[in-house]
Amino acid sequence: MKTYLVTGGAGFIGSNFIHYMLKKYNNIKIINLDKLTYAGNLENLREIQNNPNYIFVQADICDKEEVENIFKKFNIDYVINFAAESHVDRSIREPEVFVKTNVLGTVNLLNIAKTYWETEKGFKEGKKYIQISTDEVYGSLGETGFFKETTPIDSHSPYSSSKASADLMVKAYYDTYKMPINITRCSNNYGPYQFPEKLIPLIINNCLNKNSLPVYGDGLNIRDWLFVEDHCKAIDMVINSGRLGEVYNIGGHNERTNINIVKTVISYIHDNVDSSVTEALIKYVEDRKGHDRRYGIDPTKIKKELGWQPETKFEGGIVKTIQWYLENKQWMQNVTSGEYQKYYEKMYLKHK
Ligand code: NAD
Ligand code: TYD
Repeated sequence: MKTYLVTGGAGFIGSNFIHYMLKKYNNIKIINLDKLTYAGNLENLREIQNNPNYIFVQADICDKEEVENIFKKFNIDYVINFAAESHVDRSIREPEVFVKTNVLGTVNLLNIAKTYWETEKGFKEGKKYIQISTDEVYGSLGETGFFKETTPIDSHSPYSSSKASADLMVKAYYDTYKMPINITRCSNNYGPYQFPEKLIPLIINNCLNKNSLPVYGDGLNIRDWLFVEDHCKAIDMVINSGRLGEVYNIGGHNERTNINIVKTVISYIHDNVDSSVTEALIKYVEDRKGHDRRYGIDPTKIKKELGWQPETKFEGGIVKTIQWYLENKQWMQNVTSGEYQKYYEKMYLKHK
């Protein structure tokens, strides 16, 4: 029975990953370590909270004692580090916490895993540390070309720079100590349980409440969108078969402008939910500082080496996603009360 330490498992991708893994395997144990910041939500895991193969620990990945306690108590085989401050706009306002969690937290996890996994003869068999990184570390593309694993790191925002720094520390543990690691760099995810500070759930929520839809700059920035389950499937493959020390890019060649995303959501809601929701809600607002223009992943390596293929096309994935938010209005209400209101007012009320 393999034991996975999943960090940040109460967030968007981490909780989807835990659901995916517990559905797929009944012979694994998952320890979910999460600090429960504003982005962490145990409601995301309600269906599996009593699963005997699942344990939740509320802790900070920067906390040496708490992380050590987990390694003392459980024979951890894999660390999958999702825990991070993940929102670019917040990183522009408050960069320090991004360095603390994303860089120092990663180094703390690496150090403790190394301590428990390393022997005089090298690292124990079957152990691996997986860093969940992002395509944003590569910076911004022009109109053509894609990010490959060999593309130089050229991050711009405090968020992406903190993720890039963490990646370099993970690489250093491989290069220096031969610690078994992989790094995955995925494009933008969408799907259930995503916190509504990110584009897609924010637009869905605002459409349903008939609030204006803030589009930064000219709306022509491009992101490469992947349904979250396809990301989870790729991570599982990297854990099982990724060559040690390697980076794997993950993406499904689904590049869209932001305005295209916004209009797609409006059109579905207009046709299926509320015909009074129209493009009149769109509001072009001040651009994000240092806004990366285009992201686009070349997924050739993970496809060829590990046989990964995305299963969900955007047209179906976005409908599934909107329907999930429609069926989980209480979830949205819970996450948009409290801290979220203050955040939203700070971010957007200046545009009203
Ligand atoms: P999220 O913000 O939804 O979740 C982050 C989780 O980490 C939350 O549960 C939060 O409570 C927890 N956390 C934050 N600081 C912590 C700390 N110090 N100790 C322990 N837990 C802490 O983020 P997400 O969108 O699920 O992203 C997960 C990972 O995937 C991140 O590392 C992110 O960089 C990466 N990623 C995200 C995307 C995307 O589109 N969302 C794409 C590629 C990569
Ligand atoms: P986001 O979901 O924050 O992801 P990231 O910045 O990590 O790619 O934003 C996706 C794109 O949407 C990005 O180009 C910024 C833009 N955006 C808006 O136009 N309006 C919004 O309200 C938000 C949150 C994002």
